[in-house]
Amino acid sequence: MIKLFPPIVKEFLAALGKGYTYAIRKNHYVVFGILWGLPIPVVTISMGIYFNHLPVSLGNIIAHILSYPIHLLFLLHPLLFGIVFGAMGTVREEKENARLAFENSLLLANEELKGVNKKLQELDELKDNFLSIVSHELLTPLTTIQGYITFLKEDKAKSLIEEHVEELGIIEDEADHLKNLIEELMDLSKIEAGKFEVKPVPADMRDVVKKVKMIFEPSLKTNRIILEDRLPASIPLVLADANRITQVFSNLLNNAIKFTPSGGRVRLSALVADEKITFCVEDTGIGIPKDKINRIFDKFYQVDSTTRRRFGGSGLGLAITKSIIELHKGRIWVESAEGAGSSFCFELPRYRGAHHAARGQVETGSGAMQCL
Ligand SMILES: Nc1ncnc2c1ncn2[C@@H]1O[C@H](COP(=O)(O)OP(=O)(O)O)[C@@H](O)[C@H]1O
Ligand SMILES: [Mg+2]
Repeated sequence: MIKLFPPIVKEFLAALGKGYTYAIRKNHYVVFGILWGLPIPVVTISMGIYFNHLPVSLGNIIAHILSYPIHLLFLLHPLLFGIVFGAMGTVREEKENARLAFENSLLLANEELKGVNKKLQELDELKDNFLSIVSHELLTPLTTIQGYITFLKEDKAKSLIEEHVEELGIIEDEADHLKNLIEELMDLSKIEAGKFEVKPVPADMRDVVKKVKMIFEPSLKTNRIILEDRLPASIPLVLADANRITQVFSNLLNNAIKFTPSGGRVRLSALVADEKITFCVEDTGIGIPKDKINRIFDKFYQVDSTTRRRFGGSGLGLAITKSIIELHKGRIWVESAEGAGSSFCFELPRYRGAHHAARGQVETGSGAMQCL
């Protein structure tokens, strides 16, 4: 209470000194105050007249007031109340004006924010368009380059010396690298624009894994890493887009090989449950530090810049992988400890035959799911 009063009293006293406190037209509180103070002299003077048994006349009233000067004090009451209420009205009006000014400034700031937001959205759209146009424009000539590399490697005229074949191999690797990067950028731009699609159909993950193992055979050999296939000989069908899940396995296997020193091991496994199947890619590699683990699915995130220089990559693989799995209504997670390897697992829904077909998710082809 003690703390609350001084500012109010100060504002009140300051208002007393302001001219418009007493401007009846602008400040109706003054009129209200005068009316509020009027009953005091009226009642006291009427009582005086009544108890002195005087007839009511202006002369008697004036005479009565003059014979009891305290009535002069009572007569001042309407004025006093007018002043006090007037000052209160002024304080109130000043506060109201300040509030309105603040509200207006908020509205203005809000308008400005809306403008900035719109600009940002436009820029974002521009970036998306730029990304997709640039990726397309890069991919077309690259495909031609890759075609010529294949053509040259076939060396039908037998004109290439051994050195050239080796150099051609390097060009081919770099072109593949570039293609991967462009494709990742294109996927990202589709994901961000909500146009990334998966078409889940009943799929045999054994076929997917077989294909991925073939793709990675040379790289496993070069890096002297053993791939242990612990998947069951036959896996129940899952509801998945086989191409996209091939991409998921490729991303995870690519990371496992990249971050596992020579002589290490990568293990594939699967756990079949009633509704879903969990697939895991486990490695004996460098692992992920505890404080970085929850960021590795973010786009462009790589554990650190030195690692980045050593291992290359765009930092997009896991972000895309996560989007793909989520579009399958699945989940992906990682368990890892620095220096002790990592284990990436994801789950896919099992195909339940007629049950899924009845829901129009499979046969009708209406099951395409988009990233929104
Ligand atoms: N198996 C793994 N072992 C250790 N670190 C990993 C592994 N997989 C991913 N990471 C970390 O997560 C980061 C992001 O992975 P990813 O999105 O595939 O990008 P990129 O492979 O292009 O660097 C990697 O740069 C790496 O730091
Ligand atoms: Mg990667």
